[in-house]
Amino acid sequence: MLLNNASSAPRLAGCEHFLDVIPELKIIFSFSNLPFYSVSAYHLGNIRGALSWLPSIKIESEGARFISKRCKHEFYSGRSIDFWISLSIVIRKILGNKNMDLGITNKTALVCASSKGLGRGCAEALAEAGVHLVINARDRKALNETADSIRTRFNVRVQTVAADITSLEGQNRVLDVAGSPDILINNAGGPPPGMWSDWEKSDFLAALEANMLTPINLIKSLLPSMMEKGWGRIVNITSQSVKAPIAVLGLSNAARAGLTGYVAGTARQVAPHGVTINNLLPGVHATDRIKYLDLEVAKARGITVQEAAAERAGAIPVGRYGTRQEFGAACAFLCSQHASFMVGQNVLLDGGAINATL
Ligand SMILES: NC(=O)c1ccc[n+]([C@@H]2O[C@H](COP(=O)([O-])OP(=O)(O)OC[C@H]3O[C@@H](n4cnc5c(N)ncnc54)[C@H](OP(=O)(O)O)[C@@H]3O)[C@@H](O)[C@H]2O)c1
Repeated sequence: MLLNNASSAPRLAGCEHFLDVIPELKIIFSFSNLPFYSVSAYHLGNIRGALSWLPSIKIESEGARFISKRCKHEFYSGRSIDFWISLSIVIRKILGNKNMDLGITNKTALVCASSKGLGRGCAEALAEAGVHLVINARDRKALNETADSIRTRFNVRVQTVAADITSLEGQNRVLDVAGSPDILINNAGGPPPGMWSDWEKSDFLAALEANMLTPINLIKSLLPSMMEKGWGRIVNITSQSVKAPIAVLGLSNAARAGLTGYVAGTARQVAPHGVTINNLLPGVHATDRIKYLDLEVAKARGITVQEAAAERAGAIPVGRYGTRQEFGAACAFLCSQHASFMVGQNVLLDGGAINATL
């Protein structure tokens, strides 16, 4: 992994290979325009932040010798190997060898439509960060299984509400149990695919109800308590179709564009009260929803589901579908203390599928 921060490049002079010597670091992050952390050997606070992403960092003596020779900053230059090893031990002790501290331990979250797929990914990642949950889906059995799994793995409180989140009755039941959560994740099933000529007014109304008016109602219901507390996070799961339309998903394109417009204005109105609202735009992720869409493509084109899936994955630069864990991690970051300055953004998670500069 090379953690690079353009703004602190001068400080890195002489320390530029700081991380080359750590074999565990494999990924490349560019920090020039991301609100993450610098790994500049200039500032221990920054190192701590950067290293908190790395569960298994090791600075072995060879690496330490190398770093000592290269680092020219007055605080670090000429330090002994013992210094570097002690520093790495202190960092690991502070971090407990765990993932980055998102600063939301013991917060509470309502995660809608979360027994499976992307909603579940968000619930799991929040639970991993120490957040207590209310999760929801229509099928009680799957919902309870997911709740049990999350409780066992992450030792947080998980309440369940089996209800159709797109109905007013379902929304009221979920809100009754959730009370005044600190975090709201809006999600629901997506509308069916089709042709422009297939859809009647009733189809549009159903899509608007599920993917626009339901999240808006939940946002409206929970904003007052978040604003009163001076802290809140709202993340809406929308779709890459907001950025680039998917022709067969006309109902989804329309409903999600409506929600996106609402969020763009509302996020600015509530930001002064410590509440952020952002949207996560999934590209293709390996969930039941995508299995269903692959099946529809296979049927329409007379090919196998495997062929349809391989074709779809082949069109993604990363060469595969995303996972619910990757999606959940991005969601948890948006809900973290570190994302307080991200307001009204549409964050695309698509493996590079949409070919656009911005
Ligand atoms: N996966 C992708 O690649 C992708 C890409 C772009 C957009 N999206 C959108 O992201 C959202 C989530 O997709 P997914 O792939 O995670 O779907 P999924 O795997 O089918 O999971 C959907 C989850 O939501 C629950 N759910 C569905 N309708 C609900 C309702 N009316 N009330 C309460 N819970 C409900 C389901 O449980 P029950 O069935 O038991 O209710 C399940 O837990 C959808 O809107 C989808 O269109 C997904």
